[in-house]
Amino acid sequence: MFTREFCIILSAALVAGHSSAQQSDTEEVPRTSAEVPERLPETGERAPESPPQSSAQTIENIDADAFVFGVGQPATPEEIAAIDIDVMPDGTGLPEGSGTFAEGEQLYQEYCAACHAEDLGGISDLGAARLIGGRGTLDSDSPVKTVESYWPYASTLFDYVHRAMPMDAPGSLDADEIYAINAYILGRAGILDEDTELNAETYSEIVMPNVDGFVPDPRPDTQ
Ligand code: HEC
Repeated sequence: MFTREFCIILSAALVAGHSSAQQSDTEEVPRTSAEVPERLPETGERAPESPPQSSAQTIENIDADAFVFGVGQPATPEEIAAIDIDVMPDGTGLPEGSGTFAEGEQLYQEYCAACHAEDLGGISDLGAARLIGGRGTLDSDSPVKTVESYWPYASTLFDYVHRAMPMDAPGSLDADEIYAINAYILGRAGILDEDTELNAETYSEIVMPNVDGFVPDPRPDTQ
């Protein structure tokens, strides 16, 4: 009995509170309606409304000081340098250092062969790609895409190995080691003479077999 009465009193109080809250809302925010555009004299149709101003037009009015969140800190030049390692097709970004085919052969066996196989043929069970071979297969029914057959620029090999390999310790190799490993891979691919010492200058001169195998994307939004 007590519970039932209590419930009725409670729900009555809730209803009262709810409706009074609603009431004060409608009192404080008067209803408005958008202005109807003028009719055009020539056609009698309504003139198109001007589009709303985009945030891009008003961004200069934003007060940057109002958006200081009090967390984080500016990146130091050292922190930026540690991740600013991209290498471009023209050789921009290649670091100082050098390496040879012979050095690379040893390093490859130590750091890469476990996944990419001693003969650079890859280990498909591990998902580790075959690195060499496959030239002339790209327009066949079973194309074999490798660094040798497919990649248009050697710069990508430097960049990729530097940032992503060995897969279990990415970023652990220094510039000399990467030049050496690349000299070995490109040497085994028949792209580079085994006697060539790789450094930023000699690396930039490498021409990959598939350099002309790509066409520019003509869609305007990719230009
Ligand atoms: C622990 C296994 C492992 C080790 C060690 C390793 N890789 Fe890889 N590597 C992979 C896997 C897996 C992929 C495929 C990654 C993907 O598709 O995202 C790959 C991809 C690559 C590719 C891209 C191939 C392509 O055609 O897409 C290159 C080049 C490469 N590795 C070079 C190296 C080199 C050089 C080393 C030694 C410094 C190395 N890898 C060590 C597992 C490994």
